[in-house]
Amino acid sequence: MPYFEPELQLTEEEFRLIRDLIYNHCGLFFDDDSKYLLDRRLGQRVTHHNLSGFREYYQFLKYDRRRDQEIADIMDLLTTNETYFFREAFQLRAFTDEIVPELMRLKQRERTLRIWSAGCSTGEEPYTIAMLLLEMGCLHGWRVEIVGSDISQRVVQHARKGVYTKASFRATEERYQKRFFSETDDGYRICDEVRELVTISQMNLFDANRLALLGKMDVIFCRNVIIYFDQASKKRVIESFYNTLRGGGYLLLGHSESLMNLSTAFALRHLKNDMVYQKTDTTGGGVAT
Ligand SMILES: C[S@@+](CC[C@H](N)C(=O)[O-])C[C@H]1O[C@@H](n2cnc3c(N)ncnc32)[C@H](O)[C@@H]1O
Repeated sequence: MPYFEPELQLTEEEFRLIRDLIYNHCGLFFDDDSKYLLDRRLGQRVTHHNLSGFREYYQFLKYDRRRDQEIADIMDLLTTNETYFFREAFQLRAFTDEIVPELMRLKQRERTLRIWSAGCSTGEEPYTIAMLLLEMGCLHGWRVEIVGSDISQRVVQHARKGVYTKASFRATEERYQKRFFSETDDGYRICDEVRELVTISQMNLFDANRLALLGKMDVIFCRNVIIYFDQASKKRVIESFYNTLRGGGYLLLGHSESLMNLSTAFALRHLKNDMVYQKTDTTGGGVAT
């Protein structure tokens, strides 16, 4: 008979302790039905550190001097990083056809645009924004800064490398691929003209100290990130976005996400191509209770 190593199993108590520790760190909430996921993905860490079981692993996460690195490592295992270039075309059209022209009119004197792609995974989103701005050809004399950030160090490294396989191009028109990428042995490399507009950082959306260093943004893209948070975490993140945006700035969420029951502080703007959220100077609303 073949011998199978018995899998490590979290007890109910260990599950709750570890689940709460992860939740408090990054807002990702694992409900009772996802216990098997933590069993499987964190079981490998218990084995990796030669620990006796999850109880000891929890102590490791709480008190070991390597705990920060371990928590960073498990973020790589627990986040969902699906993304591709030119995702959500309607919204991107709203960005190029209406939002950017409006911001450029409003900021004629200052001539700066600051855009944040929060939860950017492997970088396709911030690089898409950069390609679109370059295609518009209206940036001469403007200082454009695009910040891409993610909690997972693995995807941040990938984004910095800027080399992609075919899967990332499933929604990309050929002319973009031709203009902005060169083919190499390991895939398609993003060109320097695009890369120079983008800075990639590792950042946890719940790390208030790091967020405070970002400075004010004109547009925040945070698409397909808050779906993984519970209501309380969503509210916390949306409030941080509100504080990070300039008056008149835009918040662009994924197409299945909305601020309903989360915040009344933004105005819903009906643009020709999409509906988007705007921080108006006059709104007196706050985070919904
Ligand atoms: C599904 S991807 C979305 C990528 C891109 N925004 C898009 O729409 O294609 C979600 C990303 O959010 C990141 N994420 C999850 N929780 C986070 C947190 N607390 N702080 C920063 N990033 C987080 C994950 O690591 C993951 O790469």
